[in-house]
Amino acid sequence: MTIADAIAVPQGTAQDRIAETIGEFIALRQELHHHPELAFREQRTATRIAALLEGWGYNITRLAGTGVIGTLRNGPGRALAIRADIDALPIHEATGLPFASNVPGVMHACGHDGHTAILLAAARYLAETRRFHGSLHVIFQPAEEVGQGARRLISEGLFDLFPVDAIFGLHNWPGVEAGRFGFISGPAMAAIDRVDFRVRGKGGHGAAPHEAVDPVVAAAQAITALQSVVSRNVNPLEAAVVTVGSIHGGTASNVIPDSVDMQLTLRSFSSPTREVLARRVPALLSGIVEALGAEAVVDFRPGFPPVVNHAAEVSFARDVARAALGEDAVLPALAPRTASEDFAWYLAERPGAFLFLGNGEGAPLHSPEYRFNDAIILPGATLWAELAERFLTHPGANQ
Ligand code: NI
Repeated sequence: MTIADAIAVPQGTAQDRIAETIGEFIALRQELHHHPELAFREQRTATRIAALLEGWGYNITRLAGTGVIGTLRNGPGRALAIRADIDALPIHEATGLPFASNVPGVMHACGHDGHTAILLAAARYLAETRRFHGSLHVIFQPAEEVGQGARRLISEGLFDLFPVDAIFGLHNWPGVEAGRFGFISGPAMAAIDRVDFRVRGKGGHGAAPHEAVDPVVAAAQAITALQSVVSRNVNPLEAAVVTVGSIHGGTASNVIPDSVDMQLTLRSFSSPTREVLARRVPALLSGIVEALGAEAVVDFRPGFPPVVNHAAEVSFARDVARAALGEDAVLPALAPRTASEDFAWYLAERPGAFLFLGNGEGAPLHSPEYRFNDAIILPGATLWAELAERFLTHPGANQ
């Protein structure tokens, strides 16, 4: 070994090494925040990510339009994927931050800029140190917010091109102590489905309801009846949500409108419960309004399945967090989230786990006041780095 080789040997823990360059990734996160891009339009973001990865020695594959996959191979061994999402939301930012969105009506209000910075910080460390054997794939996925990015990557051959042994991802979580990780085995986030519903009646004068078919009264009864789905049809030991988030009908106090439009979101944590909602909600909506003489037009729009974490990968990631960041970095328990994530599609195909990283107190996700906490980039990147090194242990390892 030459002196130069000896100097090149990586020193220090992953956390120490990543800490040395963390300022660059905080600046990058704020830059991405300043230039948010909506689903499948993440051109600038994707170009920036690909250039960085290429500079560190990754092979780049572009899929799903604005998706970027960076691959680093270090001899034979297992293959690991880590995924970050890169898209922003159609929300007008109200944080007043100096690096706030420069695009009116578009904002990184879910911290995907932060997830991207976290994975890039780990990717750089892993490329510089290469203390692993096998193949590492860092996936920068577009269009999570519209629930389409993961599915499109898979349909374009993600797992045929990169047959990974496991896939991991994370989401920051406001209201959970900053820098602490939450691990949930089994169902972790809800399935999501949507129902668009039109009650078609017969409009008329508000003073002559007997000559009309009032869709407002029918809609009101349908909403009340919907409350029985979770309380009477869903297994009481299972969780589910039926929310009518939008209702529109009518223009004046003395006019009975022709129709009322409603939009519902349905959440569940298992296939049987998801099927109960998919069957009972449309049946109930139709039955009630038809009994009142109106017509029901039900458009059921399937979303995606629940995020179901695999027990072995959850336990592996938890052990990595404890070893790399200490017992305090691991929350003793975390309840499943009723929000949804299209990471569900990956877990339906491959073993893996979706983790939660506390963002500290502050506005919730999808709020115009939401602020990603830059202090969690270091623990997040440290976890990814150590997880990759421990998963990709030695040639041919098959633990
Ligand atoms: Ni998100």
